[in-house]
Amino acid sequence: MTASTLTITRPDDWHVHLRDEALLRSVVGATARVFGRAVVMPNLDPPITTVAAAAAYRERIAVATPPDSRFAPLLTLYLTDNTPAEEIVAARKSGFVIGAKYYPAGATTTSDSGVTAHDRVYPALEAMEKHGLPLLIHGEATASEVDVFDRERVFVEGSLARIVRDFPALKVVLEHVTTHEGAEFVAAAPAHVGATITPQHLSYSRNALFAGGIRPHRYCLPVLKRESHRQALIQAATGGNPKFFLGTDSAPHLRRAKESACGCAGCYTAHAALELYAEAFEAAGALERLEAFASFHGPDFYGLPRNTDTVTLAHETWTVPDEYAAADEVIVPFNAGATMRWRLVV
Ligand code: NCD
Ligand code: ZN
Repeated sequence: MTASTLTITRPDDWHVHLRDEALLRSVVGATARVFGRAVVMPNLDPPITTVAAAAAYRERIAVATPPDSRFAPLLTLYLTDNTPAEEIVAARKSGFVIGAKYYPAGATTTSDSGVTAHDRVYPALEAMEKHGLPLLIHGEATASEVDVFDRERVFVEGSLARIVRDFPALKVVLEHVTTHEGAEFVAAAPAHVGATITPQHLSYSRNALFAGGIRPHRYCLPVLKRESHRQALIQAATGGNPKFFLGTDSAPHLRRAKESACGCAGCYTAHAALELYAEAFEAAGALERLEAFASFHGPDFYGLPRNTDTVTLAHETWTVPDEYAAADEVIVPFNAGATMRWRLVV
């Protein structure tokens, strides 16, 4: 490593939305270019609720991936109130389903089939604990009386605490943690409870949602939180604790779906994912901790081998395009028009 480049073991993305069909073909290259593996979320319409559907989706991802890439998608099952234990057993046996995703019903984009009450999913969680299939959680309480900025804290203190207590051997990932309460819960929990952290939650507080006017391309769920929470996430990501690892939650939506009277949640970050993390780590004076967060903690948590090849970032400025062509329309990327300080070179 010289002052102007940073070479690290190839990272993985432990939480990404690759979508399907034309949108999948438009976005998968950006993820495959830098990440060795990615945990692909199952919230398609209809959601991926069976191993057979996951196998078919995996095939579509393989067909859409640039041919020279060695990118390997890791699939997830979408938990519903009725997921049978046999499906969990089949997922564990498949070798390509890495976990099952718990979306509280109504929490986010395409979560209508999600879990309506967490005791409904207890039979599936029992099977997951018994057979060793990790639980990936969108940790937000969805009751309408809960303030949107408190949704994660309320879920962590209630449902998540109960799940971790009732299933003491279940591997659990609190996906896209956004609060100091969430990060503290994970840090204090046993070693098999971890969390992913997105680049947008490391980069911005909620002020960025309203900087000079409403900023739909910074709107995701869980929503950005106040600055003290961002600071706690920076501490968690850069502190060397192996429970915290990279998960972009890159969630592409077409421009017209974001820029509308009811704009949908999700930031597209795959175009500059590692670069965004590098900026956040550099700003925290912790660039030397990026490799462990991006490339070691995730595979270690899941019990998978670390990647053996490397990627290099150059300390070089470039401007994020205003839009990318996608599915005959356009996606506005996160940080559109901004100057980035790191560029992926190999
Ligand atoms: C995700 C999406 O668009 O699929 N949106 C988001 O804001 N993160 C759903 C999710 O991960 O919650
Ligand atoms: Zn997500």
